[in-house]
Amino acid sequence: MHLAEKKTVSLSFRQSEYVYDRALEVIPMGASTFSRNPHLFVIGASPLYIDSARGCRVRDVDGNEFIDYSMALSIIFLGYAEPRVSAAAKAAIDDGLIFTLSCPQESILARTIVDLVPCAEMVRFCKNGSDSCEGAVRLARRHTGKLKVMTVGGYHGFHDWYIASTARREGVPPAMAEWVLPHAYNDIDAVERTIRTQAGEIAALIMEPVINIEPRPGFLERIRELTLRHNIVLIFDEMKTGFRLSIGGAQAFFGVVPDLAVFGKALSNGFPLSALVGKRELMRQFEDENCFLSASYATEKASIAAALKTLEILEGEPVLEHVWSMGERLKVGIVERIERHHLTASLKIIGFAPMTHFVISETAGFTVAQIRSFIQQESVRRGVLFVGYNHTSYAHGPADIEYTLDVYDEVFALLSRRLADGMLADRIEGRTISSFGVRGIS
Ligand SMILES: Cc1ncc(COP(=O)(O)O)c(C=O)c1O
Repeated sequence: MHLAEKKTVSLSFRQSEYVYDRALEVIPMGASTFSRNPHLFVIGASPLYIDSARGCRVRDVDGNEFIDYSMALSIIFLGYAEPRVSAAAKAAIDDGLIFTLSCPQESILARTIVDLVPCAEMVRFCKNGSDSCEGAVRLARRHTGKLKVMTVGGYHGFHDWYIASTARREGVPPAMAEWVLPHAYNDIDAVERTIRTQAGEIAALIMEPVINIEPRPGFLERIRELTLRHNIVLIFDEMKTGFRLSIGGAQAFFGVVPDLAVFGKALSNGFPLSALVGKRELMRQFEDENCFLSASYATEKASIAAALKTLEILEGEPVLEHVWSMGERLKVGIVERIERHHLTASLKIIGFAPMTHFVISETAGFTVAQIRSFIQQESVRRGVLFVGYNHTSYAHGPADIEYTLDVYDEVFALLSRRLADGMLADRIEGRTISSFGVRGIS
């Protein structure tokens, strides 16, 4: 069905709910990825499981179709099921997929990344961001002989060294928290204070170069200066910014070159692959077999072939220009509509064009979760899968953006009305989004 025909259609999510109920019996929380958990969606008024996807559209298990702006948690950059990437991966599967020894494409891909990414002199592949970040921290600790790691607001996976500093640390030895020093993004004074007082113990500073908001002028440069001066390894976690802000990542975009960096997501357009890259002097520590990073599936050929094809397309076609231009059009259009419907106190959109985020504020006694749920429900009803951020892709065209802006025009008008008449909570037809908990528990 064409999206435009769906504007007033009331959608069924019965199959999504059925799958959820069944999944809960065998999968804690109903999904293995935190950000794909049904409780982050308005259960009953939103899709919970996706069956297939193509371009910038996803089709849920009830057969409903939506324009997607999460793009599989920022993983899909060229579009779902990009035929050339799929063909390259399929050929690799037919070759046997994974072997007793590495395949030659592994080093071809490493060389391609070295050519594109400023800090990359050598590369090691893993399957996910958590492992690559863990590897980076290990290199920094061995290189400096120090133990503590500073973080600056980002997310770096589920491993103990990092998660010990968060609320999600159940099951992690409390002692791990002694070695991780969290800081807020853009708070250069706090970063400076820690370095001034503890530099002798700090092995690494790991950060996402951009976390939703832009870095304050000089923030990244100052961090680079301080880490260099105090023998602290600077690690950029570019899982989200990599290849998205520019083909050389945030480090090329800002001209601030870290010592190590982690890439994934856009790298292989959906195939499971991450890369830990960096200065030769640091990376070569892995040549000592007792400085260890290894993964059985790291050299699986389909993902490597997919990454090679993805990078070829990124280099050969105006992908970055397109993504920036679509993202900018969307951002400007959303700002206009927020203003048109007098929602500036409740809603903002922030961030660079290829990765913008909605910031929702409590308004008129309604919580952020309620407002978010209402926007999601009404957007979904009109064919847009609102998730609170927009990671546009090469597959989003001008017509998709215009359609989405028309949807937001209607949704924001409704939101404005419901905030004014105090009926917002009554109009949420599904279960209000919760940050945690499964049906019947929270
Ligand atoms: C910036 C960043 N670092 C690390 C990770 C962890 O990656 P993974 O879930 O592949 O282990 C993520 C995942 O979303 C991420 O966004």
